[in-house]
Amino acid sequence: MHSKAFVDPLWRAATKLFYYKDAKEEGELLEMKACIKCHTPLGFRSHSISSPEEDYDKLAPLPAQGIFCNWCHNINEVKHIGDAAYEVAPGGGLAEPSTMLGPFKDSETPFHPSKYSELHTKSEFCGLCHNVSHVANNLPLETTYDEWKESPYNSGNPETTVNCQDCHMRQRPGIPATGKTERPDNPGKAAFDGPDRKHIWTHYFVGGNAIVTKLLGSEVNAGMAIERLKNAADLEIIKEGSYSTGQPALIKVKVINSGAGHYLPTGVTEIREMWLTLKVKDASGKIIFSSGDLDKEGNLDKDAVLYNTQLGDKEGKPTINVALADRVLHDYRIPPKGHRIENFSFDIPPGAKSPLEIETTLKYRSISPALAKKLMGDNSPEIPIIDMVNETDRIILKN
Ligand code: HEC
Ligand code: HEC
Ligand code: HEC
Ligand code: HEC
Repeated sequence: MHSKAFVDPLWRAATKLFYYKDAKEEGELLEMKACIKCHTPLGFRSHSISSPEEDYDKLAPLPAQGIFCNWCHNINEVKHIGDAAYEVAPGGGLAEPSTMLGPFKDSETPFHPSKYSELHTKSEFCGLCHNVSHVANNLPLETTYDEWKESPYNSGNPETTVNCQDCHMRQRPGIPATGKTERPDNPGKAAFDGPDRKHIWTHYFVGGNAIVTKLLGSEVNAGMAIERLKNAADLEIIKEGSYSTGQPALIKVKVINSGAGHYLPTGVTEIREMWLTLKVKDASGKIIFSSGDLDKEGNLDKDAVLYNTQLGDKEGKPTINVALADRVLHDYRIPPKGHRIENFSFDIPPGAKSPLEIETTLKYRSISPALAKKLMGDNSPEIPIIDMVNETDRIILKN
């Protein structure tokens, strides 16, 4: 996703659409211009592009690589966490290569100077970009780093702290490396002529996005996003009291964020959709209750239990456009190592056949098909829905 940050078709569509169509006031336009700040940091800092108004395809190949190797490994000064408030120390081309900052104290190579950087081994490094606020009104838009900072994963003890890197740079195919799985070392060499190392930090940088990497040619990354999502949460069905035909019934579902080091979901949560489904059938297969269904166009039922955020504009009207955002109207998500309990009440019809089968599933998609279509028109890809976790139970009816 880092190498695709500037060619990401969703990002491109969002920045183009919002810029031209809706952003009008000075503060809104300033925020729109900032879209390129993190998605092509070299383009922004070298002034080769200054706003989404410009033709993206004209940007030189290097800045178009988004967040590339040297960019991260040349970050050498933090002004504050978030909003890309850091400095980079570039080199002078092949003749005068830049100093690569990284986790090793004994890294030597004839190709470039190397230097140990504690910053690169800590969540603060990721927080430089993974905390985003509105440039004009400072409204927090993405708070992944803050969510992690307040979480139990940030124990305050360097021995037990689980940094972003521990989950996101240990993952490799088959090893999701989340809060609920092992996060084993990945022994090897960092360079063909380097020494054997106990652990090499992987660079897949996989989150929940199974669309963009696939569209741009990486089935491997898309598959790893699915693996990550399937190891992010747990569900528990809680039965309340007794259940009888012709009587009202209550089923509770506990949704636990057992795998993510931040809220579930995190990042651009005004776009993401994570929701809970519950289906209750009787022994003859008749559906007695259903929640979290999609219509034919793939729109989620309005009454579904949905975990996301909703931004509001100056008038307090809901908006999906971050440039117009002035407040957060609604934030319903699950904190790291925390949970939420959802209540489902319904009536058991008089003729229902015992036992009842209950099934609940936590589902995730990066964007709704309706919004994808609004942004990308007929080019909008098919949006996969990932079943993160699923739980079943049965109820014996009393009469
Ligand atoms: C301070 C850094 C920063 C700035 C400025 C920024 N972004 Fe992002 N953007 C991110 C990060 C980090 C993510 C990854 C979060 C995630 O995937 O949930 C992201 C992800 C996105 C995504 C999701 C893409 C996908 O494939 O799902 C969209 C859309 C997006 N940004 C649009 C924008 C727009 C529009 C602007 C300008 C108004 C903007 N960004 C400005 C850091 C930034
Ligand atoms: C998003 C920022 C980022 C990008 C992009 C990035 N790296 Fe890294 N890299 C890191 C961080 C952070 C670490 C250290 C992690 C730690 O110690 O916790 C690291 C570690 C390394 C190491 C030390 C060996 C290891 O893997 O443990 C090497 C070598 C390296 N990166 C090379 C590269 C190369 C080559 C690229 C481009 C293909 C690249 N990096 C892209 C952030 C980045
Ligand atoms: C220089 C800014 C920058 C730094 C530093 C950075 N990121 Fe990112 N990261 C981004 C942007 C921008 C995106 C969004 C790309 C997109 O969606 O188009 C992103 C995307 C991601 C994604 C993919 C999200 C998804 O929806 O699948 C993950 C995971 C991620 N970053 C983790 C990390 C971790 C872990 C670190 C620290 C080791 C880190 N990033 C450091 C800017 C940065
Ligand atoms: C304990 C493990 C763990 C830690 C620590 C952790 N993450 Fe994650 N991260 C996950 C899991 C699991 C997911 C997939 C579920 C999800 O999308 O939230 C994820 C997803 C993401 C996403 C994609 C979110 C989305 O839905 O689009 C981003 C971006 C991200 N992480 C960045 C970070 C950053 C930055 C840090 C450190 C501040 C961090 N993560 C720390 C486990 C972790």
